Amino acid sequence: MQLGRVLVTGGAGFIGSELVHQLVECEAEVVVVDNLINGRREHLEGLPTDYVRLVVTDIRDRQRMAELMRGVDIVFHLACLGVRHSIHSPTENHDVNATATLHLLSAARAAGVRRFVHVSSSEVYGTARWTPMSEEHPTFPMTVYGAAKLAGECYARAFYRTYGYPTVVVRPFNTYGPHCHHEGDSGEVIPRFLLHCMAGRPMVIFGDGTQTRDFTYVSDTARGIVMAGLADSSMGQTINLGSGGEITLRELACEVAAAVGRPNAEITYDTPRPGDVLRLCADVAKARQLLAFEARVTLREGLTMLRDWYMSCETAPDVLLEQEITRNWEFAANRRDE
Ligand SMILES: NC(=O)c1ccc[n+]([C@@H]2O[C@H](COP(=O)([O-])OP(=O)(O)OC[C@H]3O[C@@H](n4cnc5c(N)ncnc54)[C@H](O)[C@@H]3O)[C@@H](O)[C@H]2O)c1
Repeated sequence: MQLGRVLVTGGAGFIGSELVHQLVECEAEVVVVDNLINGRREHLEGLPTDYVRLVVTDIRDRQRMAELMRGVDIVFHLACLGVRHSIHSPTENHDVNATATLHLLSAARAAGVRRFVHVSSSEVYGTARWTPMSEEHPTFPMTVYGAAKLAGECYARAFYRTYGYPTVVVRPFNTYGPHCHHEGDSGEVIPRFLLHCMAGRPMVIFGDGTQTRDFTYVSDTARGIVMAGLADSSMGQTINLGSGGEITLRELACEVAAAVGRPNAEITYDTPRPGDVLRLCADVAKARQLLAFEARVTLREGLTMLRDWYMSCETAPDVLLEQEITRNWEFAANRRDE
């Protein structure tokens, strides 16, 4: 299938903006829908305006979304509110991640959109019962975020089964790279470790640091999402996107320290984060088989590239860290459920 005209929800965000760049390289015409709550216009700077149009709106606006679906060939659905957001505002998190996904599926089908790519998350699994985790691994999400992403997945699969509507679910594992979030309730472990280390501050681990993750560089994750949208064999399928490697947060801190050239950088430990998944590692056989997808960037290479990207930023690490909230799941200023 050709890309043609595509709509990317959350396309001004971290993974979404990388996806938009890759789609434009494939000569797709892209409509980006983002309310800019966590995304930024600047992430789309430099893209040709005759290929990319940013529409600043909320995916919960059903009438607007129905209008925007007209003439679209593929929807890539990435807009979401994150895992820490779900701890302080579970109802709003469900509204965006689950309910709005159901409405988008209905709108896409009604408008004759030919394919719908639902970008889910490895958080639907909860803590690994065994590794590596294939798509058949049980789903026991720890957080409302994981539960809402799983609900979105179930709706996408139900549309395929009930209506024969071509949907695919991809489950990226933890992703990092340029434009990843260090700030507010979106802040993730790799950017926070890197910026702390670059600013000469201790890296903070919540819990004992034996938690594991499978980290994938953003160009790989976005490439996998494009491939899932293009492959006929992926319709009706649920596909992990990861690197297949597992690393503890303690080991990660050492890798970051090495990348920054501060091998003796300090690590401090804080109480565990509620709902923290203890172990994640992708089985990537299905992505390899259906999409010929393989992550290309190793963790060491990716950390070096992200360090260089931060070094090239106008804003210094200690200034960027002013936007950080250490215990960001307690982010009262962002609480929107009441
Ligand atoms: N980053 C990761 O490690 C990771 C891992 C697994 C899955 N994912 C999934 O990938 C997708 C993108 O994640 P990301 O890390 O780029 O997050 P992000 O926060 O950078 O991107 C999400 C975008 O959605 C937008 N958005 C939020 N609510 C909206 C609404 N109501 N209407 C319109 N736009 C809205 C935000 O402004 C943001 O630009 C998400 O679906 C997420 O669940 C991410």
